[in-house]
Amino acid sequence: MAPATAAPAAPIALSDAALSAREIAAACANLDELRAALGRFDACPLKRTATTTVIGDGNPHATIVLVGEAPGAEEDRRGLPFVGPAGQLLDRMLGSIGLDRTKVYITNVLPWRPPGNRTPTADEIATCQPFVERQIELIAPKILILVGGISAKALLNTGEGITRLRGRWFDYHRPGLATPTPTIAVFHPAYLLRQSAAKREAWRDLLDIEAHIHRILA
Ligand code: URA
Repeated sequence: MAPATAAPAAPIALSDAALSAREIAAACANLDELRAALGRFDACPLKRTATTTVIGDGNPHATIVLVGEAPGAEEDRRGLPFVGPAGQLLDRMLGSIGLDRTKVYITNVLPWRPPGNRTPTADEIATCQPFVERQIELIAPKILILVGGISAKALLNTGEGITRLRGRWFDYHRPGLATPTPTIAVFHPAYLLRQSAAKREAWRDLLDIEAHIHRILA
């Protein structure tokens, strides 16, 4: 089936912080440089309220990359993505299709926790997004999984919500990727913890991802 196309988001004017993030991220030749660059980058105010910079976890050579929203309290404390209650559910979801953190790389759109886990602003997303995009370029996965609406909207550059985006395959294009990456959006595990009725669709998406893995990576 041909990949779907999402309705484009309304363009926003990029701040100086977002423009400088783009330049800095583009200049990183590997994940160590990106980690160091994020350590020096002070243009996102979230860094001042967060305890740690949470970058990625898992296998940096993985063929599957997952991108969530932002660290929560536990992630901020431990410096790793998806290690709180939502992360434990994500691990179980991955386990149900034979995946774990040795086989995937996990990161977030934002490397810093928004205070009280509030929704990140459009400006904060635009400032942090170049760093996650560069991580994707450097890893060049064969499958990209966008976990939750914030990540899906940001990386697919669309105004559509997760209920419409989930379960469809998109082509993710980046200048630094030789070919577009097959990309799917799924419900965020934090949402599934609150809305167990959505688990049926989440399970369907997992089976679809599993089938795709067998098709693409076989
Ligand atoms: N939610 C996310 O989107 N990312 C995390 O790392 C933790 C919770």
